[in-house]
Amino acid sequence: MHAPVTDAAAEDPSVAALLAARPHLSLHPMDGLVLEDVPLNAVAEALGTPAWVYGAGTLRRRLAALRAALGGFALVHYAVKANDHLAVLRVLAAGGAGADVVSGGELARARRAGIVPADIVFSGVGKTADEIRAALGEGIAQLNVESAAELAMISAVATAMGRTAPVALRVNPDVDAGTHAKITTGLAENKFGIPYDEAAALYAHAARLPGVRPVGLALHIGSQIVTLGPYRAAFARAAGLVRALRAAGQSVTRMDCGGGLGIGYRDEPGASPEALAGALRAAFGGMDLELMIEPGRWLVGPAGVLLATVLLTKAEGRIAVVDAAMTELIRPAMYDAWHAIIPLAAPRAIGAPVPVDVVGPVCETSDTFARGRMLPPLVAGDRVALLDVGAYGAVMSTTYNARPLAPIAMVDDGRWAVIRPPQPVEELWRVECVPTFLE
Ligand code: LLP
Repeated sequence: MHAPVTDAAAEDPSVAALLAARPHLSLHPMDGLVLEDVPLNAVAEALGTPAWVYGAGTLRRRLAALRAALGGFALVHYAVKANDHLAVLRVLAAGGAGADVVSGGELARARRAGIVPADIVFSGVGKTADEIRAALGEGIAQLNVESAAELAMISAVATAMGRTAPVALRVNPDVDAGTHAKITTGLAENKFGIPYDEAAALYAHAARLPGVRPVGLALHIGSQIVTLGPYRAAFARAAGLVRALRAAGQSVTRMDCGGGLGIGYRDEPGASPEALAGALRAAFGGMDLELMIEPGRWLVGPAGVLLATVLLTKAEGRIAVVDAAMTELIRPAMYDAWHAIIPLAAPRAIGAPVPVDVVGPVCETSDTFARGRMLPPLVAGDRVALLDVGAYGAVMSTTYNARPLAPIAMVDDGRWAVIRPPQPVEELWRVECVPTFLE
């Protein structure tokens, strides 16, 4: 869950406990912290810091585990928003994932990464006519509709194009996902989806509209959900609606059950794919529905680390200023998210832990990664890794304070490659111009 940055240091898991929960990471006596057989110091040496590193093997293993748990009972459409790098999309597509996109940009990325239109669904609260046109032009599997107004818009665009849009109505089940207020989406008060009580009438309306063909329902109740209760409640509501629609003579063939599966940010286990599969079977078993899920974080979160270097320490070592900032990883500032921080140095070089505030150099108080975190005494030049940043990390970066985007590397089976070079500072103003009246 999103524990506050200020959590008591005594609760922080040890490095050993953090690593035990993360089989893709290990501490070697000589090389220090290693991700999938690649010493992270080597990557930092070559690329500088801050730098992101993604583990392809971890991505593959997590997708395979999820698909094995589902056993073909539901398709996986990876929520591209969590990490939209082409190399990440390639690994997941090769592993059998489709894509859940929420913008024309993500649709273009998914296509560019080789994901076929039949494996793409388009979610999102506000699609533009251009985005709808692009989706219909590609012939994607379905558009998830979030309002009556959007349904009318899709009908108009599709009719003008001489197409029929397969649509699923995203129903708001009014279920509390029990997660951080900024990432909960399934409550009636949230901006997402069609109110449960209005869905049946809108479905019937969609069936009569030109240019659209309702194929089923969609839901997504929130993100970083670690208990199954909210899913069970939402699935039961959705199954009830499917039965009611069918009883009223509607054809309902697909059910998109959304994303939201949480991960363990400390040393606790994340949500279990087997438990999710069980909840899906319990709610929808025997209903003859084509099921799909849209996980983002669970697949990619643990696969990414952010490397940073200590620039200086102050207040007798109680504050360590690192070269990564909220401009790279905004989750602690935005959601009070807790991310593990581990020194890259080999174990023999690590001293007894002391509480330290790990902060970035940006001129904002919220540019703080951790408060009172128990870490070995840090000195300028030491490197650390922030863990579990593969989801909602680089994709949420900004260039605030004119900080160029940090480079990204991918490791795979002992090899590694740069998948995004450091951004030259001139890139920041390459598309800017000064009007002639200022000359
Ligand atoms: N499907 C829909 C319709 C969504 O809106 C989302 C996420 C997902 C799937 C994927 O959810 P996931 O499996 O990754 O939880 N930036 C926040 C998370 C925002 C999630 C937005 N929607 C964070 O860093 O925690």
